[in-house]
Amino acid sequence: MSPVPVENTTPQIDIGSLSLGDTDSQRTPHADKPTCPFPHELKTELDSCPLNVNPSTQEISPTLLRTSLPDRINYLKDFILFRHTDEEILHKVAPLVNDLIPKVVDELYAKLFEFDVTKVIFLQRNEGFDGPLPTKLEDLTLDSPQLIYRKIFMKSWARRVLTSDYSDPAGKTWSYMDKVGIMHTGVKAFRHREGVKPLVVPYRDCALSLGWVQTVLQTAILKLDEGELSMEEKIGAVSAVSKVIWIQNDLFARHYIEE
Ligand code: HEM
Repeated sequence: MSPVPVENTTPQIDIGSLSLGDTDSQRTPHADKPTCPFPHELKTELDSCPLNVNPSTQEISPTLLRTSLPDRINYLKDFILFRHTDEEILHKVAPLVNDLIPKVVDELYAKLFEFDVTKVIFLQRNEGFDGPLPTKLEDLTLDSPQLIYRKIFMKSWARRVLTSDYSDPAGKTWSYMDKVGIMHTGVKAFRHREGVKPLVVPYRDCALSLGWVQTVLQTAILKLDEGELSMEEKIGAVSAVSKVIWIQNDLFARHYIEE
């Protein structure tokens, strides 16, 4: 019996016709020349795109990334290109948006009160707060004394983000930001929280809050008068805020995913 003919549906490619020297044949596609995604940096610290500055590959130890905060900070800063110019523009913007910080914090808490899963966390007693505390979710309001007390810490974090000295990878700033991440995972990080019940906030809500703060801060910067901050400075400031928030995000995330 002769074999049943099988239709060959696989497209046949003539490899010979793919010769790169042949202008009529198909060519391996080449990406366009890469363009620098950091145009504002061109006019500041460097004459060329920062991506071209050091084409060599850095050796990074995954173990040190986990065990040494300064090593991790160096890696984060190099990866996201957080430079001295970013710190400078944050410091320049700080007094211009300082008066908005209480509003940013108020709005963040209003946001966290929109959902039971985030609101319920504020029923716990804060470290150092011995005032009255409601026991039912519906009794907890944004002007509860404990909430007013909590907002002070959040305002202080926001101000530190805009005014800190970021130069030393082993310095206090990064250590503070790392402890802020740790303390939300149920592990005690700050000495002043030693006697208090561990705080456990899902990473999801920390990340969303960071995203929320980033949007509000960047919008405030973009709305500043051209006389207060030039367009070029606004671009630099928006970029610097994004970098520092993403670094803070890593300093939360790494304690949740143990990476
Ligand atoms: C943008 C993200 C967040 C940042 C930067 C942040 C920052 C902070 C800081 C700086 C403190 C005080 C640390 C200290 O004791 O010195 C704190 C405490 C606290 N955070 Fe967050 N937080 C964030 C997200 C959240 C979320 C999403 C929740 C809950 C839904 C939350 C709930 C709390 C509570 C209840 C405390 C008080 C702990 C206490 O004093 O007993 N945080 N947070």
